[in-house]
Amino acid sequence: MKTVGVVGCGLMGSGIAQVSAMAGLTTWVREVDQPTLDKGLGRIRKFLDDGVAKGKVTAESRDETLGRLKGTTELQDFATCDLVIEAVVESMDAKRQVFSTLDRIVPASTVLASNTSSLSITEIASTASRPERVLGLHFFNPVPLMKLVEVIRALPTSDAAFDAARGFVERLGKTAVVAKDTPGFVVNRLLVPYLLDAVRIYESGVASKEDIDNGMKLGCGYPMGPLTLLDFVGLDTTYSIANIMFEEFKLPQYAAPPLLKRMVLAGYLGRKSGRGFYDYSMT
Ligand code: CAA
Repeated sequence: MKTVGVVGCGLMGSGIAQVSAMAGLTTWVREVDQPTLDKGLGRIRKFLDDGVAKGKVTAESRDETLGRLKGTTELQDFATCDLVIEAVVESMDAKRQVFSTLDRIVPASTVLASNTSSLSITEIASTASRPERVLGLHFFNPVPLMKLVEVIRALPTSDAAFDAARGFVERLGKTAVVAKDTPGFVVNRLLVPYLLDAVRIYESGVASKEDIDNGMKLGCGYPMGPLTLLDFVGLDTTYSIANIMFEEFKLPQYAAPPLLKRMVLAGYLGRKSGRGFYDYSMT
């Protein structure tokens, strides 16, 4: 594997493109327009600059990584990619559109992966003329720091595509967890009910948000409390994942609490909107 393509340069796509380029691979990353692309590439540059300032990345490695990154607004530039990872919005229509376009552009040998956290990989694969080359590669935020990638086999995924994707994860220096194509895979299947329960506890007045967060941070050694983590992941993202999981399983633990829905409707989406459970307007 020499060349990788990443569709989307948002929070996840920029992180995936960064770790791919850091692993020595020529990495194309595509956004819908130049300002959005510039913003995503700027996020990568800042992360690498911060890494240099912290002594975690050498200036030489930063420059080489940036040299391997190629931004574009055209999927046509992915024609030489050995692996393409889609990291666009969590919408089946948007993902199906990307996969059907990629299907016409990339060679037959190219592996196509989705970074979806909850949508069905098998449904995404059904758009492709070669569904056997489609699978899931689910990364975690912040991608450059989190060591896990879930590798998801859709029903038609071939051994060759699966092995190539797993080899890519190893090349990134990350650990692969293999999961079946079910909503939430392993991590979100466990994480989402926990986050929703934290909102339910807060909503019912059991404890303050600070005490709920400190409870799990100091009592269980989690790096972030659940409400801080919800702000970090995005309330809208969690709400959408919960809805997809509830739709599939029809179990109460996946039902979004009324407060979460109302916060999303109010635009309190977490860090990215400046306000969630906590206020980030000054940061
Ligand atoms: N370049 C290189 N290294 C960097 C860096 C940079 N720009 N910035 C930070 N680091 C390093 C630090 O030097 C530090 O390294 P050491 O451990 O060797 O000292 C490490 O990364 C941690 O950084 P910080 O000390 O600055 O920050 P922190 O200790 O507060 O940790 C965090 C930040 C990693 C985000 C931590 O809070 C954490 O793990 N939070 C939980 C995140 C999580 O759960 N993510 C998953 C969300 S779910 C998801 O993504 C999936 C989904 O589908 C919803």
